[in-house]
Amino acid sequence: MNESEASAKIRGIFPTPVVECVIPNSAGLNFELKQLILEREKSDKGTQHSNLGGWQSDWEFESWGAAPVKTLLDAARGMATQITCDRAGRPVPVNWVTNSWANVNRDGNGNEFHTHPGAYWSASYYVDDGGIGDDPPLGGEFEIQDPRGVAPAMLAPNLAVAMPGGQSIGASELVRPRAGLMLIFPSWLSHGVRPYRGGGVRISVGMNLTPAPQPQTGPTAA
Ligand SMILES: [Fe+2]
Repeated sequence: MNESEASAKIRGIFPTPVVECVIPNSAGLNFELKQLILEREKSDKGTQHSNLGGWQSDWEFESWGAAPVKTLLDAARGMATQITCDRAGRPVPVNWVTNSWANVNRDGNGNEFHTHPGAYWSASYYVDDGGIGDDPPLGGEFEIQDPRGVAPAMLAPNLAVAMPGGQSIGASELVRPRAGLMLIFPSWLSHGVRPYRGGGVRISVGMNLTPAPQPQTGPTAA
């Protein structure tokens, strides 16, 4: 910038947080979770929500009672607390009510766009990426819709805002899963999963985290 140009600061107001958290040393955890989930799949016909094919367990994954399940859920709750604060920006303890489920996608399986009503944070943890990380044509990406819809692209779809993330207007963003990665995002954020096109299994765990109701501290009715 030369001296005749005015300085400018672009603020990202109302940003959309998408947290990528890599669980350290996850190979052993993933091995145990994969065994547990594939074994469960054999005896449970599963449920149908946003999934386009594939197998999805019930929402009681945590009640399966296995140690690796608790390890994963505790990590998600810890991260949710870390990225949550009070309205003044101060750390705040939160008692997270959690429901969770397992997903197994094979060749051709995906999830249509959806949200998770009633929760605060949602998360996806990748137990097995099905080789997606090494081979882009295999699909299976986590796809996030621009929450502003088409509005930013209505006038000049060939232009973008010169700021980080400003190039994504009215479109979607892709995150390529890899084993050990946990994504945390606001539950209202519309997302889906592109069809997986591989010969392996793409295994993930979905989680919803909601603050437990707080005791009433204000005046109470007689
Ligand atoms: Fe989801």
